[in-house]
Amino acid sequence: MPRKPIVGGNWKCNPDKTEKLDSLISNYDSEKIDTSKCDVYVCPSPLHVSYCMGKFKEGVMVTPQNCNIKGCGAFTGEMAVEQMKDMGITNVLIGHSERRGEFGLMAYDTNETLATKLKYILDSGLNCIFCIGEKLSIREQGIEAVMKECAAQLEDVKGMLDPARVVIAYEPVWSIGTGVTASPEQAQETHKAIREWIAKECSAETAAAIRIQYGGSANAKNAPDLSACPDVDGFLVGGASLKPEFKDIVAAISAAKKA
Ligand code: 13P
Repeated sequence: MPRKPIVGGNWKCNPDKTEKLDSLISNYDSEKIDTSKCDVYVCPSPLHVSYCMGKFKEGVMVTPQNCNIKGCGAFTGEMAVEQMKDMGITNVLIGHSERRGEFGLMAYDTNETLATKLKYILDSGLNCIFCIGEKLSIREQGIEAVMKECAAQLEDVKGMLDPARVVIAYEPVWSIGTGVTASPEQAQETHKAIREWIAKECSAETAAAIRIQYGGSANAKNAPDLSACPDVDGFLVGGASLKPEFKDIVAAISAAKKA
């Protein structure tokens, strides 16, 4: 069965003012984005999640950028999946490299905490975008080293990779916010290697069905070529998700994957 493409907009810690949200949200209006052929989600900053709920057209899923590891209670500064469920949220993103300790931020998450979070999310009935990706120093050693790192990031969650509920976002750290996109050849080679690893470690069915998004300086210009890669099932978009061109990225993958 063909995999339905999926594109996410990760707004990270943007915008700086609540008054800018309506205009950002309008980039995702139904006249602009066709969600019939592509799943679309948006990750507003935690402070803006509540404001954004109910403001997107049907089909655009508000997706928090993180959750805690075990629910409501005495966890200052955290967000529980139970609270998300109560708000009608169905999807959470975890494992972004900016939370794994890249970009000068402290490591809020490890492979181990992320496995705990994924189990908690799935047990609670929500779905998950699970981010992985290697640093430049690993990429420079070649695809085997890259795959070794991706495998290490997937090892603890391999028993939870239900294609109906988990999407993998492959985001090479060196391409995030740098303007250096992985070439279509690099993206395809890595996505294929990830799929082959899943086939070996989980099952051929899981590997064939699970969706793998590419993230890292994706934009309207490079989306058509990346969309043509057979193992690229969508994008996780940072900077360009704050711009009107986001709709063109959704259009590019929808066109490339139409059966
Ligand atoms: P950029 O598209 O800004 O490189 O960010 C990618 C990303 O980190 C999305 O989660």
